[in-house]
Amino acid sequence: MQEKYDFGLIGLGVMGKNFLLNVADQGFAALGFDLNKEKVAELLEEKEERKLMATSDQAAFLSGLKSPRKIMLLVPAGKVVDDVIAALRPHLDRGDIIIDGGNSFFTDTDRRFEELKNHGIHFFGSGISGGAKGARKGPSIMPGGDQMAYTHIQPIFEAAAAKVNGEPCVDHLGNGSAGNYVKMVHNGIEYGMMQLISEVYDLMKQQMKMSNEAMESAFKEWNKRELASFLVEITAEILGQKDGLTNGDLVDQILDKAKQKGTGKWTSQNAMDLGIPVPTIDASVSMREISALKEMRMQAESLYGITSLNNEYLSLEEIQEALYFSFIITYAQGMHQMREASDSYEYALDMETIAKIWRGGCIIRSAFLEDMRKAYQKEPKLSHLLLDATIADVVKRCYPAVTKVVSVAITAGIPVLGLSASLNYFNSFRSGRLPLNLIQAQRDHFGAHTYERIDQEGVFHTHWGIDD
Ligand code: 6PG
Repeated sequence: MQEKYDFGLIGLGVMGKNFLLNVADQGFAALGFDLNKEKVAELLEEKEERKLMATSDQAAFLSGLKSPRKIMLLVPAGKVVDDVIAALRPHLDRGDIIIDGGNSFFTDTDRRFEELKNHGIHFFGSGISGGAKGARKGPSIMPGGDQMAYTHIQPIFEAAAAKVNGEPCVDHLGNGSAGNYVKMVHNGIEYGMMQLISEVYDLMKQQMKMSNEAMESAFKEWNKRELASFLVEITAEILGQKDGLTNGDLVDQILDKAKQKGTGKWTSQNAMDLGIPVPTIDASVSMREISALKEMRMQAESLYGITSLNNEYLSLEEIQEALYFSFIITYAQGMHQMREASDSYEYALDMETIAKIWRGGCIIRSAFLEDMRKAYQKEPKLSHLLLDATIADVVKRCYPAVTKVVSVAITAGIPVLGLSASLNYFNSFRSGRLPLNLIQAQRDHFGAHTYERIDQEGVFHTHWGIDD
């Protein structure tokens, strides 16, 4: 291989192939590697006029890259990432850069970062969002790692990323595993938004007896207004999709068991570790788990046979506002989690930057992210998104609608775990007084765990009731 390439990519699956083609389209010389010769051949079929090459020979791949080598891995998260790094490491030079573009768990990234640092190699955990199409046409990229080393990959990432108003949807997010962490929370929010949309779909279908076609129109309409977002847009497309095997619509033929690869669950688990409440995200993970219990659900349906107790009508306007309210709450929970993680893990995250790079390319992109960006631009230290006055106005406006939608759903017996978690989170968050004084009393009663008082400093314990 005579020519030297600017960028190397290992793992020529759909995401890898598409991202490499994207990089080559931006004028960079791009070199792919995959042990699977068919994948190499598939990529080369699309070479055309691009400065693009691929190989199954690791030595040729490594000698074909300009120094410092910039090598992105797009391989399944977990052991494969370690195996690929182990195979590369002895052949790399100090100053070379490895970028993990997969959904790796952030503590794995920290471990790899430290191990490679000992060998003088820079490691970036860099979440990429936008699926196969995003990788090809412009994803949102979330890199974390050494700030100085980032300058080597910055021009390539900025060229390949999605653009919003000319601004690339990529930025250096912070140290160590900051990029993977932000991508993990992105996915937690993604789970939340998907769950909320599915609940709204259920209400429109069951309570309002809307056809798929009518729902498709509603989602299309919403996508032109404040709810404008990738997930609302694709929901309209899904509702309009005919089934190739029957005369009906495809959505009605799809089994109602949602799978998951774990990033939403990690978000919830880590939020618990940090002590940050993210109940909408928790609910969305739980709902995927409940959905998996198909057989038990079928048995329970015949055992309980509960039918709707409420036929009250809901307007599309009310449903739209309930969804918008809950989207905002979900984003707010995720941002709160990242605020805490930034302190706990010393990422030094900048919330405005995160909002900025999520505006395009990624799965959770939406018009609201511009409003969110403005909130953090105005007050970079904003501790919670719901404490921004402009956002508070929107939340207040949507509050009556979400309250009605959740009440009707509950009395109609339609499950709305995500919507109700969002509303109840909000109702708790906006309460200066909560009944948890009673929990403190109970803890002190049975376990002498002590409590604090509202009128005096200090720690108190009471001999409750009658002593034995
Ligand atoms: C993205 C997505 C992507 C993820 C899928 C699947 O941002 O492009 O988050 O990274 O693979 O969403 O996630 P689940 O299989 O867990 O639903």
